[in-house]
This record gives sequence, structure tokens and C-alpha cells, in this order.
Amino acid sequence: WPAIAPLVAEINRLKEEKNAVILAHNYMTPDIFRLVGDFRGDSLQLAREAAAVEADIIVQAGVHFMAETSKILAPQKTVLIPSLEAGCSLAASITGADVRLIKQRYPDYPVVTYVNTTADVKAECHITCTSSNAAQVVEAIAKEWDTDTVILVPDQYLAKNVAAQTDIRIITWPGACEVHELFSADDVSQLREAHPGVVILAHPECPPDVLQAADFAGSTSALASYVQDNSPNKVVLLTECSMSDNVAAENPGVNFVRPCNLCPHMKRITLENILDCLIELKHEVVIDEEMRVKAKAAIDAMLALPK
Ligand code: 13P
Ligand code: SF4
Repeated sequence: WPAIAPLVAEINRLKEEKNAVILAHNYMTPDIFRLVGDFRGDSLQLAREAAAVEADIIVQAGVHFMAETSKILAPQKTVLIPSLEAGCSLAASITGADVRLIKQRYPDYPVVTYVNTTADVKAECHITCTSSNAAQVVEAIAKEWDTDTVILVPDQYLAKNVAAQTDIRIITWPGACEVHELFSADDVSQLREAHPGVVILAHPECPPDVLQAADFAGSTSALASYVQDNSPNKVVLLTECSMSDNVAAENPGVNFVRPCNLCPHMKRITLENILDCLIELKHEVVIDEEMRVKAKAAIDAMLALPK
């Protein structure tokens, strides 16, 4: 890494000087993930970290909804996102006004929102979930409301994948992740044919037939743990490209087959804009207080569930 060493050193120096931490999502490129990230993980782990961290400044090396989640949970801290263009196709697919209409139409059913949404959507929902606890959240809220039907927005594929794991009826929304919706069951067959014995792991934002054809599905951190715990000879991660790079670096004995799709939003975060972010303290995430308190209630309801 000689070319980037000065950049890395300056970021790490500024973190100390300004009492800042970098929360790095599993989809960050290895330079960010391994060399400047203080806490690494999936959306749920980063949310828990934001709530607990003691620094004055949180730099979110991830996408905008993740930075909003940090600000919702840690309002007294300065939360910065290095690029305002780091969005998410799921978060862009639904608004708080949409959720209000859903609630008018189905007043008797609880609304669960995937964390990949904006603060105004979270503020309208009863509880949030992530890819690592979606089925658990749906079952818990159904029990609390004494209902057999739950609304889970905005990812139609996550909703169908959760529905396959529970008897609860799920009403959803036509959102999709632009990265994971590109994988198909045909890809899985072709991979098995080209790489006999390969273990295929998929993220639950993939379409249901992909998950049915895969060997294991889970959140980004669950996929990483699966590789760590099982040390397969050959593995494919049907998820964002940088995951394989980061998991491969931790598991040198495992061969990675790499058909992967890039998340253009995650890739907006670079070492260069992390440095600018720390020097100029930009871009600060600000959330209307009334909305923040309502959104926090939905996240707290999720965080209160047993781990
Ligand atoms: P995880 O919560 O599994 O890290 O997923 C976040 C995400 O954006 C996946 O596309
Ligand atoms: Fe959103 Fe998909 Fe990118 Fe994750 S990978 S941030 S769900 S667009």
C-alpha cells in the first residue's frame, strides 16, 4: 500500500486529533475497511456501535441511510458522511408519505421497515429490521400486535425471503437493491457447473430463487462468519464486490470465485473524501428533532429484541 500510506497516516492522525471514529461497512474497499476503519460490520453492528461509541465525531464510511441511523442514535455527536451522493436504491424507493398511505389502507397491521430507508420513513414505521434479524423482527411484532399479517417495506425480495421462513403473511413494497436484484438462479447453476464443489452464499436482498439455489443466506457479516467458521475450499459471495476482497484478506486459504456487482453508492466513499471530511468536518448529517425521536423509537424497538 505504499502509494496511499501518507493518506492513511493523515486520516489516522486526524481521527486522534479530533476524537473521531470511522464506522466502516463491509462493502467498503479494503483500503478503507482495513486501514482506517475503527469499527467494521453489517448495518446492525454499525448501528449498535453508533449508539455505544464514545468519540465526538462519527465518520460513516457507508451510505447515507447508515449515517442517518448513527445520527438518530447518537444525536449529541457530529455525524459526517464523506459523500452526499452515497445513496441507496432501496432508500430512494419509498417516502414517509408513502408509509402514511400504507397505514391508512392497513390500519390493523404493523409496519416494519428495513433500515435501508430515510429517517422520515423510519419515523412513520413501528419497528426497523436489518438483513440479520428481519424474520425475528416480523415474528416479534406480529406477536405483539396479535396479528397474522405484517407489512415489510421497501425490499420486495427481502420480504419474500422472510415470508419463506415464517407463517406470517407479509405485505410488501416494490423496492429492490440495484446490486442484488441482478443475480439470478441461472447464475447459480452456471457457477455450480463451472466450479464443481463451490459453496454459494447469498445476501437476502437477492431474488428468492437465488436464495433457494444457494447454500446459505445471511447479512454481510453472517456471510463473512460463514466463511471464517467453515473454511470452504471454494466459495462465491453473491453480494457486493468489496465483500469478497475483505473476506478473502481474512481467509487466505479459501479460493474466491468472484462474479460480483458493484454498489455505485458505496463506491462514492474514498480515502480522499474521508480525508476532506475530517479536515473540513463535512458533510454533517442533520435530522429534524421531532422526526429523529420518532425514528429512534422504531430503531430502539429493534435494538431491544434479544440478540
Ligand atoms: P447488511 O446489513 O447485510 O450489511 O446489508 C446492508 C446493505 O446495504 C446490503 O446491500
Ligand atoms: Fe443500497 Fe443495494 Fe447499495 Fe446496499 S448494495 S447500499 S441495498 S443499493
